Amino acid sequence: MKLKSLKLYQFKNREADVYSFHQRINAFVGNNGVGKTNILDAIYLLSTTKSYFNHLDQFLIQFEKTEMSVMADFIDDIEIIANISVNGKKRFKKNGKYYSKLIDHIGLFQVVFITPFDVEFVYGGSEIRRKFIDYTISQIDKAYLTDLIEYRKLLENRNAYLKLNKGRPIDLILMESYDARLIPICKSIHSKRQSFCKQIDATFNSYYSYLAGDENTLKMEYVTGLNEVDYEILLKDSFNLDCITCRTNEGIHKDDINVLGELGKPFKKIGSQGQIKSFIIALKLAQFKFLKDESKQMPILLLDDIFEKIDDERSKRLLELVCSNDFGQIFITDTNKERIEEKLNQLNIDCEYFETT
Ligand SMILES: Nc1ncnc2c1ncn2[C@@H]1O[C@H](COP(=O)(O)OP(=O)(O)O)[C@@H](O)[C@H]1O
Ligand SMILES: [Mg+2]
Repeated sequence: MKLKSLKLYQFKNREADVYSFHQRINAFVGNNGVGKTNILDAIYLLSTTKSYFNHLDQFLIQFEKTEMSVMADFIDDIEIIANISVNGKKRFKKNGKYYSKLIDHIGLFQVVFITPFDVEFVYGGSEIRRKFIDYTISQIDKAYLTDLIEYRKLLENRNAYLKLNKGRPIDLILMESYDARLIPICKSIHSKRQSFCKQIDATFNSYYSYLAGDENTLKMEYVTGLNEVDYEILLKDSFNLDCITCRTNEGIHKDDINVLGELGKPFKKIGSQGQIKSFIIALKLAQFKFLKDESKQMPILLLDDIFEKIDDERSKRLLELVCSNDFGQIFITDTNKERIEEKLNQLNIDCEYFETT
């Protein structure tokens, strides 16, 4: 899907904006702090019903205001309106009709967001990497998303029960009933994550070597307790530990991805800054390809401040790649209009500029 126009009302620091977009490349240019990243985040919100950065919806409403809205028209005659008010109400409307559940909106169109914060994928905790997997699969598989929600609920209840009964006899029948529901969900999520990681591992390296000019192939290894052993056995074996620690020690909530560089060494330890940035971009481009192939539609690509972070040669290669026919509508931000204009002119690429103040 492609955006025809976007209106923002009291969305973070953007008071009231109206944009009409180019079908291919759009660039928001302006000084630091004017709200360029916020505009991209509004597009992300329209797709996912969530901000890329703020976990709490309240922070999306302009300070001291009571509501915000984001409205978009797509070229295929679809209109989406997102509205969040200070009393915690969040509503999404498609072509004039409110969704009864926000989850029904997920997957209508996909967005891939590349931001400087993404280096956390390499340096941060495992939750960030699980989130990447979950976000991507959920976009194209509603059953995966509902399984995830159910899994979290069951895990919360199981852990709460263990905590409440610390040092007391455990109701084995109740535990069995939790486990009987956890097991099939966990197995299904595990197998979908496994095939996703395989697919991504097979595609991101070609982007990586193109961008980084690095001949070494990297490996994305899916780390999970469930690869070798059945979840029933894992749960049984960890039962005593679960009772002592009052939480569930085994399951897909412990999964991770190891990124391995040369000779299988941890990439976060041996990768240069430039290589790590190239890796992140390559990973996101592989995510783009996955979403495109699986959803059979072109995701929207959001490129936030990338020219600040990578050198001239790499940014030229990246632009050349994303402006090819393999990609669709793109939104770029930059603090320096001349820089981006020059790069796009060199490649003979047409672009609409929005000077953001
Ligand atoms: N809820 C909000 N209300 C008002 N301003 C906000 C809100 N959330 C963030 N901001 C402001 O948005 C600005 C940052 O916008 P950002 O999109 O990161 O700028 P840019 O990408 O152009 O550097 C900051 O000045 C911040 O205070
Ligand atoms: Mg920014």
